[in-house]
Amino acid sequence: MKLVLVHTVREVRDFQESKNNIGLVPTMGALHAGHVRLMEIARRESDVLAVSIFVNPLQFGPNEDYSRYPRTLSHDLEICERNNVDLVFAPSVEEMYPLPQLTSVEVGRLSEHLCGKVRPGHFRAVATVVMKLLNIIQPQRAYFGEKDIQQLTIIRRMVADLNLNVTIVGVPIVRETDGLALSSRNKYLSAEERKVAPALYRALQEAVNRIRAGEKDASKVREAALEVLANFPLIRVEYFEIVDPEELQPLATISAPVRIAGAIWLGATRLIDNVNA
Ligand code: PAJ
Repeated sequence: MKLVLVHTVREVRDFQESKNNIGLVPTMGALHAGHVRLMEIARRESDVLAVSIFVNPLQFGPNEDYSRYPRTLSHDLEICERNNVDLVFAPSVEEMYPLPQLTSVEVGRLSEHLCGKVRPGHFRAVATVVMKLLNIIQPQRAYFGEKDIQQLTIIRRMVADLNLNVTIVGVPIVRETDGLALSSRNKYLSAEERKVAPALYRALQEAVNRIRAGEKDASKVREAALEVLANFPLIRVEYFEIVDPEELQPLATISAPVRIAGAIWLGATRLIDNVNA
């Protein structure tokens, strides 16, 4: 074989690229049209399409919904079959964690704000399980939704910081016709809560409108958006922030493209959403 001399990490990666071209869509199951969008995009770009289905106990807080999280494996398999998935990896907890997990991946600063503030340890557990899934399946590309923008940002940074040999592909949010972002947790909503739920997206749009109209003061934009939510006594706002798109740090002044992210509670259900502006 001819000697190959390379000088960049990218060139090493290109050299390594095998004929296998695996795309991975990591999920916790209860699959819906948002997950299906990820599968469709992955399908187009991959010879082998793998989906993982694993409700990762470590990423749920002690008072969160781990035990009642919807588990619908046979329905999920039908959806996978319909979308020409080649491999479904649905491990048990024991298979994923045969030993107590002593090693973890912590993506510093990016995990501190937004959801990280109220879900301590959540993103460490997400990064760690995604790292394990990437190591098990060894895909060339892995697909994540912008619905969980902080998760996507953290995974991208983990891959960059640790030189993982995988390309992370971000996929725009899939919404219901009334604007509500699809989520496995929408199943928890009562009829009344479901009616109110699209207010989160409307509040995000109100923020976008204010920014487009020239408002530069992030606190004023935020107040206008919070007014939309204040019309609904059922809604409790957990956070509503205007952040920079690279590291998701809260901004006081809007002088470049931003990401606006919010989390609300409707009864016992927590919903998150975000938009670009
Ligand atoms: P889960 O909530 O099942 O989501 C799996 C993937 O689907 C995530 O990348 C999520 O952002 C994406 N997704 C969910 N709803 C979406 C929507 N409406 N539009 C676009 N994409 C959407 O996120 C997880 O699982 C877990 O944290 C996981 C990454 C699997 C690690 O355990």
